[in-house]
Parts: sequence; C-alpha cells; structure tokens
Amino acid sequence: MHRILITRRLPEEGIGKLLDTADVDIWPEDGPMPRESMLERIAPADAIISLLSDRIDEEAMDAAPSLKAIANYAVGYDNIDVGAATSRGIPVLNTPGVLTDATADLAFSLLLSVARRVVESDRYVREGRFRIWEPKLLLGKELKGRTLGVVGAGQIGSAVMRRARCFGMELAYHSRKRRPGLEEELGCEFLPLDELLERSDFITLHVPLTEETRHMIGRSELKMMGPGSVLINTSRGAVVEENALVEALKNGDIWGAGLDVYEEEPRVHSDLIGLDNVVLLPHLGSATEETRTKMAELAVNGLMTVLSGGVPENCVNPEVLEGGVRRIV
Ligand code: GLV
Ligand code: GLV
Repeated sequence: MHRILITRRLPEEGIGKLLDTADVDIWPEDGPMPRESMLERIAPADAIISLLSDRIDEEAMDAAPSLKAIANYAVGYDNIDVGAATSRGIPVLNTPGVLTDATADLAFSLLLSVARRVVESDRYVREGRFRIWEPKLLLGKELKGRTLGVVGAGQIGSAVMRRARCFGMELAYHSRKRRPGLEEELGCEFLPLDELLERSDFITLHVPLTEETRHMIGRSELKMMGPGSVLINTSRGAVVEENALVEALKNGDIWGAGLDVYEEEPRVHSDLIGLDNVVLLPHLGSATEETRTKMAELAVNGLMTVLSGGVPENCVNPEVLEGGVRRIV
C-alpha cells in the first residue's frame, strides 16, 4: 500500500478514493503543519499532497527517500522547488482548470467591491452613519467603457476578461505570449506592460510567481497606473512590491486596490489595515465548496495515475515521467 502524507484536512468527498486504497497520514490539527512535523512525517511517504503554505524544497525531498510524487493543492506551485523535484525524478502536480471560474469570480468581486466601495460602505452603515440618501455619498467608479488591463492571459486571466466584457469594459492584456485566439474571441488588445499600465483604469494580475514576475509591480509601475486607477491582485502577493503599494495607496498615486494575497502570508502589512481604499481578503480565490472538492479530486486522481505508472495531465514537469528518468516501478 502506498503511503501518502496530506498536510491538512481536505474535503472528504475529494479524497475518499485515496482513503480506500492507500495508507494515508493526514495532519489532524488546525493550522499549518509545522515544518519539523512535515520533515518527520514525509520520511516514509511515497507521495505528498501539500498546500501552498508548505515549502517543499530540497530539504523536504531529501527527508523522503521514497517520494514519487508531489501534488500541490493549488494551481500555483511557487512553494515547490520544481527544479529540485525534476532533478530527483519526482513529478509535481497542481490543480489547474477546476478553480478557474471560482478565482475569476473572486477577482471580479474585488474589482466591483473596490469600484463601488462596497466594504467601506458596509462599515459606514454598521457604524450608524447612514442618515439620508445623499447625491454625493460614497461615489465610486462605473465599469462600462473603462479599460481593464489583464496581466497574464492564462485560463484565469481569460475568464476575468470574459466577465469584464459582459460589463461593457474595454479589454487589454499583457502576457509572455500573444493570444491571437483570445484577441479574436474577446476583442482584447495586446500591449507591452508599460503601455498596459498607462492605458488601463483597472489592472488585474493573473501571472504565476516566478523570478521574472516577482515585484513586477513596484513603485514606478504604480506611478504609471495613475491616480484614478485600481489594482486587483488574486495571484501571489510577491508579484507586487507591497511597501510600494502601501505608499501608492496612501499618496493617492492609485485610487484603490483589492487584494486576496500578500507578500508574507498570513501577515498583512499593518498599514493596509488602516486604509479605506483597499479591500482585503484572506486568500480565498478558489474558496467555494465545489471547487475545493474538485481540487482534492484532481490532486488524488493525479497521484493515483503517477503511482500506477501513468502521466497525469496536471503534471508540471511531465518530462520526468516521459523521459525514462522515472523512479517508479
Ligand atoms: C491558490 O492560490 C492557488 O494557487 O490555487
Ligand atoms: C436611487 O436610489 C434612485 O432612485 O435614483
């Protein structure tokens, strides 16, 4: 029987199949699995289902001599040293596709919340300050006719653009590769990053965190966006230089921001807490009942495919399975 470590309780429906067929060790406590416990409990594992808050690096892999697969319960896998996994012949799996709509919905919720000052207005009512309808009370920004600039036009970025089109927004995007199919479908315009930042009213980030994208949005990029603009980040906190963002929000270099992710989660920059022009969420992009179950199923199915000698579609380094470097028999 294969031994599987799961670093946190996941939706039962999603992992049922695994419980029936493998020897599963699930970290039982609330809160993240402490590093020391992870290093200990990964030792006998054939496979691990990790969370984005678990750092799976060389040390963790070296602690697990029989590790044959790492399935990250997330689409982003910047918490995993994929190079180290590849050099050890270990496939890394993620959960693309199943969380696209949930995450795009959340990005759009943030966009609307910032544009129409929903959270600030809710506080206003709760504080007992709503006296009378006023012509200029809590005025926000309309979406129709404004330009949405999408950075990263993968599945989630594209899904956000489809939503934005229904709201009558103009669409522009930046990505490493141009997407002619998407340009044709949505009428979105490809722009270099600088130009995208200058021309967009709303910018939303949908890139993975890599060495190229770390601090992609810093002080000068925020200045390019301009005083009427809004930044939405549901990707990874470190894509934005948080200190620069705090300054830009305080100085009015941009109009507002909606954040689901932070540079050092779960720590949130203390100055953000005091600002009214930012909406703050606790990393909820994929947090719907349906999606979290589907993510668990995808992770489990992928692991079972690897452990039975196959190549799952959600493998980010399939060369280790296809190229004969495989350690699995
Ligand atoms: C969540 O942030 C994910 O990468 O799935
Ligand atoms: C606002 O509530 C309106 O009726 O215009």
